[in-house]
Amino acid sequence: MRMNRTAIVTGANSGVGFYTTIGLAKAGFSVVMACRNRNKAEAASAEIRHLVVDAELEVMELDLSSTTSVRAFASGFREQHQHLNILVNNAGVLDVSGRKNDAGIELQLATNHLGHFLLTSMLIERMPDEPGSRVVSLSSIAHKQGRIAFDDINCEHQQDKLFAYAQSKLACLMFASELQRRLEAASRKILSVCAHPGGTDSGLFDNMPRFQYYAFRLLAPFITHSNEEAAKPSLHAALSPEVRGGDYFGPQGFRDMRGPVGHAARTPYSEDQEVATRLWQLSEELIGEPFTGLKREGSGSPGID
Ligand SMILES: NC(=O)c1ccc[n+]([C@@H]2O[C@H](COP(=O)([O-])OP(=O)(O)OC[C@H]3O[C@@H](n4cnc5c(N)ncnc54)[C@H](OP(=O)(O)O)[C@@H]3O)[C@@H](O)[C@H]2O)c1
Repeated sequence: MRMNRTAIVTGANSGVGFYTTIGLAKAGFSVVMACRNRNKAEAASAEIRHLVVDAELEVMELDLSSTTSVRAFASGFREQHQHLNILVNNAGVLDVSGRKNDAGIELQLATNHLGHFLLTSMLIERMPDEPGSRVVSLSSIAHKQGRIAFDDINCEHQQDKLFAYAQSKLACLMFASELQRRLEAASRKILSVCAHPGGTDSGLFDNMPRFQYYAFRLLAPFITHSNEEAAKPSLHAALSPEVRGGDYFGPQGFRDMRGPVGHAARTPYSEDQEVATRLWQLSEELIGEPFTGLKREGSGSPGID
């Protein structure tokens, strides 16, 4: 049954995002597939319509590595939609090449964290003030290897090639927690929740260092689960009435890589509020504007800066 409720899934054309879109469409949401490649997104949309015959899907272009593209997407969405119930910040890139976006920011931080930071800031004002409204951020077990390298934010001096990915996924988790704190401080009922898919064989690993890539491909059938299973933590975070703001969900089986959904383990560093505040301020500097939309219009309720 259709409910006149709208969700956005970024990176909806493949992997975890594809199955998250299917889950939300089955739950009766009209889903905006926010993707950087229209052809891939249209093909995925056609496939989903085949599987979920009454799915309401809309494809909109979004390149999270570009603030210009994020702004254009958000303006386009706001022109066409009065409300947004669920925002799933799913898209992600793993790229060990050290590439930067047009603004000179390391690509994974720019895409995985900053693009979603700006997107959320521009869309949260459209979210009804109720616990069914959810911002779902995607982190990773890899956050455990990360810290926020404030003195080397582009990771130009890190030995570990995967450090920048770990930093970006840690940033997603810290953003989710800090957003929840700020929503509470502004007396808002919208929930910010985080999830990680465990391990799943997807296009994400195509740009890994070759040794890790082949090792992963060899081991994947034994240690990971399907893309469909991997979407369950995100769907739980988006839909379960038992979810509380600030929760973090992931698989509970072998090394948190697969299995049923439950509360996920996180590092003490990821809960450091001073680091989270500093990251928030840095994120505002890097996108070139303050995060907006936390205060209810006309409420005068306080936020934190
Ligand atoms: N797979 C895992 O084991 C694993 C583990 C932990 C966390 N995660 C996280 O789970 C999420 C989904 O990953 P996945 O495994 O489903 O990988 P995936 O199949 O490669 O999907 C990633 C999606 O993100 C999109 N994307 C990449 N860069 C983008 C950009 N600049 N703008 C807009 N969209 C962009 C991709 O678009 P294109 O198709 O055009 O490239 C694709 O739709 C990511 O946040 C990832 O970090 C995955």
